[in-house]
Amino acid sequence: MKIFSKALLDWYHINKRDLPWRKSSDPYRIWISEIMLQQTGVETVIPYYLRFIKQFPTIEDLAKSELQEVLSFWQGLGYYSRAKNLYQCSQLIKTEYMGVFPSSYQQIRQLPGIGDYTSASLCAIAFDQKISVIDGNVLRILSRLFEMEEDISNNQNKKIFLEKLNSLLPESNNRDFAQALMELGALICRPTNPVCYECPVKKYCKARENGTIINFPVKGLRKAKIIQQFSYIVINYKDYIFLKKRKSTGLLADMWELVLISSNEDQVISHSLRKLFGKSINSINKYPKIKHVFTHIIWELNIFKKEVKSFTELCYTDKTPRNHVYKTAKHIVCRIKRIRKGEYYLIPIAELSDYPLPAIIQKILLKTSKGHDE
Ligand code: ADE
Repeated sequence: MKIFSKALLDWYHINKRDLPWRKSSDPYRIWISEIMLQQTGVETVIPYYLRFIKQFPTIEDLAKSELQEVLSFWQGLGYYSRAKNLYQCSQLIKTEYMGVFPSSYQQIRQLPGIGDYTSASLCAIAFDQKISVIDGNVLRILSRLFEMEEDISNNQNKKIFLEKLNSLLPESNNRDFAQALMELGALICRPTNPVCYECPVKKYCKARENGTIINFPVKGLRKAKIIQQFSYIVINYKDYIFLKKRKSTGLLADMWELVLISSNEDQVISHSLRKLFGKSINSINKYPKIKHVFTHIIWELNIFKKEVKSFTELCYTDKTPRNHVYKTAKHIVCRIKRIRKGEYYLIPIAELSDYPLPAIIQKILLKTSKGHDE
């Protein structure tokens, strides 16, 4: 996809961090940086990289040094086997490749301490070859771009991610493309709090389009979504509707919802409805169940509608602090009899659009409005 890579590369050229190994395309330097970056973050690597390169500016310098010296320049980075492998590699390249770093994926892959990722990253970054370079950052980006359900921690899925990335590679400048993806993962498409609105490829991202970023990447077994089942009742009185404000934390915080019965069991529901509406229970409309899917939660809802003729039958009307009914400049606030908790607001139907109603509540209101009655 040409326009994808162009958008990404244009962004990279303006926003890339000024990192010392980006000043060179010498395979030796790229190799040192890639091995160091496997262990720790960019900020920590910079001083180690600069000291190492100052001491061993070429692969020849490394090959003719002593292992102990190399290890002392690695000290603090950990994983000393990696430093030993570096040293061995330099000897091998000196003897088998006359000191010239090999440029084919297979040859590089066979060097000690070099795996699929490092081999691909050297081919792309040092030799500008058209090859997919996939690290954890890139897995996360791909998984979000394409809403991929494949577990990124399962090695068997690697091929699927590789194929996806192959379809995005540009014809030229794969050197920058590989690093641009890593940069996107580090600066924009971060594991938590990604800055999607600044993303140069947001218009190609399915997870962004569908608001599902939080579900990706899939890592290990995906936790099952929580299913919540309960009932909403649309209660109308004259040209008003009863609404309640949700609490100010959690799902749909501070938005407005309908009168709620926290059960989906038929018996409990009919008991509650009878308590609420007494004899006039017969004129309650029942609607087909509605399912609403949030990122971690699924709501399965029973929907009812009831027109009440008498305010006093449903609500308390005395003005004691506990059972208060009062008017504000905009609302009548009341308590519904037999619903222990919560202030309900009597809202003119014509003014509903002034209230933040979640999509699911809007959907219910539409389904239960006149002309949609079933
Ligand atoms: N992580 C691995 N390789 C990198 C690179 N070339 N630049 C920044 N972070 C990296």
